[in-house]
Amino acid sequence: MAIGTFGSFGSKEKDVSELKKNVDNILNENKRKKELEILGNAALSRVIDNITVNPENADSFEKKKVEDQIFDTVNLLLEENKKHLSLGDKQYVVHSVMDEIFGYGPITTLLNDPSISEVMVNGADSIYVEKSGKLEKTHYTFRDNNHMMHTIDKIIAPLGRRVDESSPMVDARLPDGSRVNIIIPPLSLKGPAITIRKFALDPYTLDDLIAFGTLNRDMSKLLRASVRGRINILVSGGTGSGKTTFLNILSSFIPSNERIVTIEDAAELQLQQDHVITLEGRPANVEGKGRVTIRDLVVNSLRMRPDRIIIGEVRSGEALDMLQAMNTGHDGSITTVHANTPRDSISRLETMVMMSGMELPSRAIKEQIASAINLIIQISRFNDGTRKVVKITEVTGMEGETITMQDIYVFKQEGFNEKGDVLGRHITTGIVPAFLEKIKVMGENIPLSVFIENGDPQNRRL
Ligand SMILES: Nc1ncnc2c1ncn2[C@@H]1O[C@H](COP(=O)(O)OP(=O)(O)OP(=O)(O)O)[C@@H](O)[C@H]1O
Ligand SMILES: [Mg+2]
Repeated sequence: MAIGTFGSFGSKEKDVSELKKNVDNILNENKRKKELEILGNAALSRVIDNITVNPENADSFEKKKVEDQIFDTVNLLLEENKKHLSLGDKQYVVHSVMDEIFGYGPITTLLNDPSISEVMVNGADSIYVEKSGKLEKTHYTFRDNNHMMHTIDKIIAPLGRRVDESSPMVDARLPDGSRVNIIIPPLSLKGPAITIRKFALDPYTLDDLIAFGTLNRDMSKLLRASVRGRINILVSGGTGSGKTTFLNILSSFIPSNERIVTIEDAAELQLQQDHVITLEGRPANVEGKGRVTIRDLVVNSLRMRPDRIIIGEVRSGEALDMLQAMNTGHDGSITTVHANTPRDSISRLETMVMMSGMELPSRAIKEQIASAINLIIQISRFNDGTRKVVKITEVTGMEGETITMQDIYVFKQEGFNEKGDVLGRHITTGIVPAFLEKIKVMGENIPLSVFIENGDPQNRRL
């Protein structure tokens, strides 16, 4: 900045006084927040015993009555303490008390904000959100760990779940479909942690993803024909890279006359077809009984005469059952795996098969994988918050002990613009996938232009 480079001593002094003013502002702001919080707590403890409605099913009329009651109490408390507040501050206090009674305390506003897709609490005084794809710290805080534990209890008690020192982890789904994970001390060292992945009421469509630059139209043509032509697909990516969203879109390509069975830990997929059976695994109950694993569901689904099996994510021994299903007539199945490259996703699968308890020789495992998986779609989350398909890779077979693969599309990053957005384009490698013949038999034709640079103007040959 010009001041820093050419500024006189005087302007440096101005900088320091500016800085002091900022620090004072922050301190004042914190003091004000603390005062409002104390007032809110006092109001809450006064009204709480007089509330006759059940917070879980109160209608808007009843809520309005409680809101008025809180407003009056806040005014009364101010009068008793001979204090004044602006209307805005009073409303802030009333709001936070309402959120304590009817919502999930300080994270209620964040959960209600449609531009926020994820809420992450790392201990009482640190709440982060993902907003429009980017991570941000918010100014919201819990009072302390007790306040947080009280809110956690409010979140999970209606789901019939509990968390305490003897079972300090919970993974559950809220009534609105949002996924919640809770982990508390002693496992979490910094205090309790809450992670909520909000359910997308209006999930992204293929057109949205193309508009975001996640993939281009030619790639979508290839993927559509691959799904319809019953190619087995593995979507690979890191945490929050958009695997489930992508799986949802791939599933939308399945013809509506096919019987689809979806299997997930927490049902997130939102298929539009009619003929869909949604299965959801179940954790053990309080006595440690009744657990139903993804693997149990995969085994069961084979008896349900499915045309397609869609598994939300493979994490463990179910990988073996899935590969066997893919190899024995349930082709056209799709799943996701947590991995950073297509090669990595294959080694993850190998490890998972080993976790199945079946003592298979390494070569046999590799052969199963090579013949079951046809296509790997690798997705990544970039620093600018965007998600991109970085590779579409075909599994071609085995050479000696190695599974062979070839890239069909890759994302070529060409730097960043001044706003920090990733620049780059999807390019074809010019390789035409070997499975083209297979899907042709299924009546799916992909124009060859998809694989060469002249197809989509966005494509370029490597
Ligand atoms: N292509 C995309 N572009 C931008 N945002 C996306 C895209 N795909 C998904 N998202 C957003 O990223 C977040 C994570 O998406 P999603 O649940 O699909 O990821 P995931 O890889 O399945 O995560 P996890 O590893 O936790 O299962 C969601 O909030 C979603 O709205
Ligand atoms: Mg997911």
